[in-house]
Amino acid sequence: MNKGIKMRNSNKHIFLIGFMGTGKSAVSKELGKMMELDAIDTDALIADISGMSIPEIFENKGEDYFRALETNVLHRISDFQGSIVSCGGGIALKDENLEIMKRAGKIILLTASAETIYIRVKKDTQRPLLKNNLNVEYIEELMKKRQPAYDKAADIIIETDKKDILHICKEILMNLRMLEGTE
Ligand code: S3P
Repeated sequence: MNKGIKMRNSNKHIFLIGFMGTGKSAVSKELGKMMELDAIDTDALIADISGMSIPEIFENKGEDYFRALETNVLHRISDFQGSIVSCGGGIALKDENLEIMKRAGKIILLTASAETIYIRVKKDTQRPLLKNNLNVEYIEELMKKRQPAYDKAADIIIETDKKDILHICKEILMNLRMLEGTE
């Protein structure tokens, strides 16, 4: 018996976007469990397809190559059955990606303050864009640059500061229900 919390459009994807360290991967796993949907991670798929880690791709092939893979992977995912898709933090910056996601499902933006992000990512070594820039000022600056694109993409915005994963997932479910109610 299927006990998952299903939305009416459960054949559609739920895309989680937002800055690095906003909790997309952890939230997608928990939300996937709650809704009995697969949790997919664009970075993990890119690493599988290319046979390289994300830092290796940036180092050996460059960011443009990574961004092209990102779009390629999004196209592939849009043919999968409805899933929770945790997206790399830069995915919303490209209009083509936005169009793919808008066609394939709903987009949820997770946000956090630059201070919170810094605390969450400061020991991380897997994010090339932060490699030599691990400080609150840089995070704040990059976040500000990206904010208009994030806002433009989002169907739902969820703040994650001082909230645990379960709380965030419940908030997402509540907002998805409200969104469904208006459609
Ligand atoms: C990036 C975010 C990373 C990863 C890559 C680029 C970005 O994913 O896709 O390092 O441009 O913000 P996370 O947001 O999961 O860290």
